[in-house]
Amino acid sequence: MVQIVKTIQEVRETVKAWKRAGDQVALVPTMGFLHEGHQSLMNAAKAANARVVVSIFVNPMQFGPTEDLASYPRDLDKDQLLCQQSGVDLIFHPDADEMYSPDFCSFVDMTGLTEGLCGSSRPVHFRGVCTVVSKLFNIVQPDRAYFGQKDAQQLAVIRRMVRDLNIDVQVIGCPIIREQDGLAKSSRNSYLNREERQAALCLHAAIQSGQQLIQNGAKDCQKIITQMSALINQQPLAKIDYISIVDAETLIPVEQITRSVLCAMAVYIGKTRLIDNFIFEIPN
Ligand code: PAJ
Repeated sequence: MVQIVKTIQEVRETVKAWKRAGDQVALVPTMGFLHEGHQSLMNAAKAANARVVVSIFVNPMQFGPTEDLASYPRDLDKDQLLCQQSGVDLIFHPDADEMYSPDFCSFVDMTGLTEGLCGSSRPVHFRGVCTVVSKLFNIVQPDRAYFGQKDAQQLAVIRRMVRDLNIDVQVIGCPIIREQDGLAKSSRNSYLNREERQAALCLHAAIQSGQQLIQNGAKDCQKIITQMSALINQQPLAKIDYISIVDAETLIPVEQITRSVLCAMAVYIGKTRLIDNFIFEIPN
């Protein structure tokens, strides 16, 4: 079975030996409770790199005080099995005190990109993500790191952080993996009861409607957002946090669709906050 290590030192020693042997190393950062979305990243990583490290760490720093840190789902045995199936070479599963000493006081903070979309309702989130991902990059020193398009803002933020701070890693984005009925796979889907699981389909319905409108030539973002919102508002269990259409790279809101855009949303289904998005590419 794939080995699980809990200390930074063990990761460093293992990766150093791999690199001495000339192996390329990939990192797939996760918070565990793995599903096919995570597995698609691991498979992509294994296809292009001799060695794959998966980190499983529910990072306290990226949760706000009223968020779901305490209840975040965990299942290390199943995670280990899925990692094994994907040919993962090492799982890094540190305790919080291995990552954060009591006097920890250094942070990676980003302005701009982190302020809109999920950043508006999760003000400390991306500071936590950037800080932990930089730490993981420094610990593992991977050649490549794999992130899902499911968290589109996170992917854009990590790409910018790597560019701005000259981190020597290639960031690879991977497509959104969905359930058969269209719901984007997420560890947080496990919070949904039967009724909520059904209601959650309104996110994908809105995504499809937005895509269709744009494909049919709609250009006015406000109109597109209004139609998508109307679909979600029909669902009594759903409450929109945001639906935005932004420039795919800068994440600045756009009014008219004249270039590639990201259409992203966060919607509460009951108490569970779900996100989804699509990118509409317009070739330059
Ligand atoms: P987590 O939510 O566990 O997700 C880990 C990675 O899996 C992220 O890159 C995410 O985008 C990707 N992922 C999740 N669901 C997916 C899906 N349905 N299709 C494709 N990819 C999917 O994102 C985090 O953890 C954390 O913020 C982390 C980056 C690990 C930092 O703590």
